[in-house]
Amino acid sequence: MGNCQKNNKMMELSALSKVISPTLSRQLFMMAKQYDDVIDFTLGDPDIPTPKAICEAAYSAAINGHTRYAPNAGLPALRDDIAKQVSKESGIEYTAKNVAVTIGATEAVYMSFMACINPGDEVIILAPYWVQYENIVKLLGGKPVIIDTFKDGFEPDLNVIWKAINEKTKAIIVNSPNNPSGYVYKASFLKELAEMASANHILVFDDEAYRSLVYDHEFTSIAEYCHKEDVVIINSFSKEFAMTGWRVGYVVADEQFINAVVKFQQNIAVCVSTPNQYAAIEAITNTDKYAGGIKDVFTKRREVLIRELNKIEKISFQEPQGTFYAFIDISKTGLDSKTFCFDLLEKRHVAVIPGVAFGEAFDNYIRLAFTLNEDKIIEGVSRIDEYIKYI
Ligand SMILES: Cc1ncc(COP(=O)(O)O)c(C=O)c1O
Repeated sequence: MGNCQKNNKMMELSALSKVISPTLSRQLFMMAKQYDDVIDFTLGDPDIPTPKAICEAAYSAAINGHTRYAPNAGLPALRDDIAKQVSKESGIEYTAKNVAVTIGATEAVYMSFMACINPGDEVIILAPYWVQYENIVKLLGGKPVIIDTFKDGFEPDLNVIWKAINEKTKAIIVNSPNNPSGYVYKASFLKELAEMASANHILVFDDEAYRSLVYDHEFTSIAEYCHKEDVVIINSFSKEFAMTGWRVGYVVADEQFINAVVKFQQNIAVCVSTPNQYAAIEAITNTDKYAGGIKDVFTKRREVLIRELNKIEKISFQEPQGTFYAFIDISKTGLDSKTFCFDLLEKRHVAVIPGVAFGEAFDNYIRLAFTLNEDKIIEGVSRIDEYIKYI
């Protein structure tokens, strides 16, 4: 009896483990697996294989003995390549010391937040948003302050942001091109936002995970308008090079900030897999060769998706300017986003993500990831059309 009580106590989960719930995206993704004929538009995980030469670079590194721990901050050559590329893109001068290589952008976001958020600090998140931002802020005892941005083409209202700022505001997260809306923020907005953040001593987190996937629009990085010490740039090899499973991303920031991130890396994962960092070197040193082809694939899929979606009555959407997501307004169906998605999966075997997963104000939206081939996109959208007709 005594032993039994002891065991129960041992297995009692921490308060931290209860702060967040499994994401709706994962839930739908797992449920979709039960249907053999499912068309799965849930995850932002392209079906495109990583370019062969990138795979070979990892293989060759491993065969040639690069199988041991890498430095906590990443391989010097990779840090150097990233610093050169980000300096060119942002207009801010960075060196390898300003770079930490991370396990995807996910770990980059996590460790960057760890480096600056204290319990009680407020972090402004522009909705709709990638849900991990909110979860990570909460895990660190911070307070996510959500600003909805759907009124004017997903362009956030600067006045609303300004009103949300107070002495507890520590940071603001900007994700352009945006997951899930596919929206690309205008340069004029980003300039004003950067100035507002700087005047109020707020750190800008600039998540550029989709910067290579912009269609018919000008991409501007908010970093172009920031001072070096005011901005933390986060990026990933996942989407640009179809390398989601390799888990390589990075943080670029002020050297002191990077030193804090590296201290966390030493205690969390030691380093990113060494052969995978060699693969990343091959990718980043030949960006045009690899990223261009991947973008071409999504450009075609986007066209097909838009064409097919336009055939459906009772939905409306803005054409995605970037990313590989379409965010679709389903208000006219009369269903909330969760009911729509679970029912669509059960009745038509099509998996999409409820808008509410990206902010409470988006319960009249669904997100489709066009990470599937064109035939599947056509079949999936046709099933959505059938579903909506018979609601
Ligand atoms: C906006 C955004 N940031 C960061 C990530 C993380 O990407 P990864 O950890 O694969 O580099 C994602 C993944 O979907 C994302 O959508």
